[in-house]
Parts: sequence; structure tokens; C-alpha cells
Amino acid sequence: MTWPWVVLGVAGTLALAGLIYWQLIIAEGTYIGPRMVAWTYDWVARRYDAIKQFEPRSESWYVAGPLLQAIAGVEEPLVLDVATGTGRLPLALLRERFATTGGRIVGLDLSRGMLHQAWTKLAAYDDRVSLVWQEASHLPFDDGMFDAVTCLESLEFLPRPVEALAEMVRVLAPGGVLFVTNRVGREARFLPRRALSRPLFEQTLAAHSLVDVTVRRWQVNYDLAMARKGGQPRLGGRGLTDLPALLRCPDCGGGLRREAASVSCGLCRRIYPIREGIVHLAGSKKRDG
Ligand SMILES: C[S@@+](CC[C@H](N)C(=O)[O-])C[C@H]1O[C@@H](n2cnc3c(N)ncnc32)[C@H](O)[C@@H]1O
Repeated sequence: MTWPWVVLGVAGTLALAGLIYWQLIIAEGTYIGPRMVAWTYDWVARRYDAIKQFEPRSESWYVAGPLLQAIAGVEEPLVLDVATGTGRLPLALLRERFATTGGRIVGLDLSRGMLHQAWTKLAAYDDRVSLVWQEASHLPFDDGMFDAVTCLESLEFLPRPVEALAEMVRVLAPGGVLFVTNRVGREARFLPRRALSRPLFEQTLAAHSLVDVTVRRWQVNYDLAMARKGGQPRLGGRGLTDLPALLRCPDCGGGLRREAASVSCGLCRRIYPIREGIVHLAGSKKRDG
């Protein structure tokens, strides 16, 4: 083999390795599609908490504290945590006064592995937390259901972050709190159309009838936005509602009802199993007959 071919071979191999590293390690599969992202998180789920080393005191300071302050006074608040992962936000809230004030948290994620890890920590709070296996671009809830919608360290992995933000605002009640991070820092440059620039992030929030918008640097690689949905506040009182009454069928939008080990759609007759406390909206089957 001649030198030019050797150089070309080495350059090609390095370029391919760089592409794979970018797609799978930095972008975590987001340019390939949501299933790929979910698969990478399924793969890492058992080690995720050890890698992140969440520490109760800083979780209280950065996560639970600001959110609890923002929803203070809301009776039985209903919180939606989009891309909940291993249950970081529900756990942080339940370690604090949310544990005694009532209310419920719904955690939604597309990785079953991450949800399984979440459930091992949250099963003891099964009357306060519900987990849903579902893609975040189409939230299976009616408009204006939640007193707070959160999404931590995940917006950059969703296929269309601007539309995903609009979807989060849609399910937020007037007066409700949005608590969302956007990736910044060195690696954000390698996530075009996923990590939003600060101006685009602020512009997107401003376009959605949000008020009291603040964006500030949060933890190491994130900006955190806190905002309220405008309009006459309609908060509280939904936190004790049974989960099927909150959910909409992702297939046809029909209402869901609870059965023994599943929820089912009265309209299109799809059945969504419940396993280990997780409602499998992303894994349905059609009822026979
Ligand atoms: C870095 S983790 C963050 C988890 C959690 N919010 C936290 O702060 O620890 C990103 C999470 O986003 C979830 N995710 C990525 N893309 C998703 C999508 N399209 N729909 C729902 N969840 C998604 C992943 O499965 C993963 O659990």
C-alpha cells in the first residue's frame, strides 16, 4: 500500500471515530432520533446516579428549594417533570416539604431503564409519584393541567426543543411555573439546533405568554429559566387526581380509564400496560375483537 492510501485510511478512521464520538457520546444520539437517545440512557441507567453524584444538599439548593418557593401556597400542587430520568426532581421535592404538603408529581421519560431506576427509589411514594413511559414531544395531557412543569438537563436531547417548550407551556395552568434548563458551555457548540443560544431561549420563552421570566446560569453547563404562564391563575386542587384521569391516549387523544394492570382508551380501545408502577404509553397494543 502506498503512503497516500495509508494517510487517507488513517484520516478516514479518525474522522469516523470523531463522528461516532460526537453522535453517541456528546449528542447522545439526538440527531439519530428519540429512540436512539432512549437506548443510550437505557444502557447507562444503572450507572447514571453514580456518574452524576447528586448530593442531597445541592439538590435541595438548586432543584427543590427554588421550585417549592415558586409554588408555595398552591394547595395539592400537580407537577410534571419532563424527561425525569432516574427521578432526580421528584426525589428532591419529596425529601423536602413537598412530602408533607400534599400534591403529586408525574415523571415522564422515554427510557424505560431510567424509569425503572426511578421507580426503585420512588416506589415508597407511590401515592405521590406516577411514572409514564412516553416521548416528550407530545405530552399526553389536556391544556392547563399542571401547576409546575419542569425539564432538567434534557431539552437538548429532544428532537425539536422550541416546539417541546411550547408543548410544556400548553399543559401548564395559568399562573403555573415553568422550570427548564438549556445547555450552554463548550459542548453546547456541538449541539446545533438542540442547545439554544441564550437569545433564542429567551425569545422562545417570550413568545409563549410567559411572565416574570428570569434566565440565569445554573450548575455547570446550563442556563435555568423560571417563568410563569400569564392569565388569571387557576392553580391547585388537582394533585390528588388519579393518574388515568389526567392522561390522554397518545394515539387518538381519548380519555383513559384504569383496569387491573393497565389503562385503556375508551375511544380507540388501545391498552397501555402498567408495570412496576410505570404506565407504558409508548408500548401499547390494540384490544382484540
Ligand atoms: C441527562 S438526563 C436528565 C434526567 C433528569 N431530568 C435529571 O436531571 O437527572 C436526560 C433524560 O432525558 C430523557 N429523554 C431524552 N430524550 C427524550 C424524549 N424525546 N422524550 C422523553 N425523554 C427523553 C432521557 O431518557 C434521560 O432520562
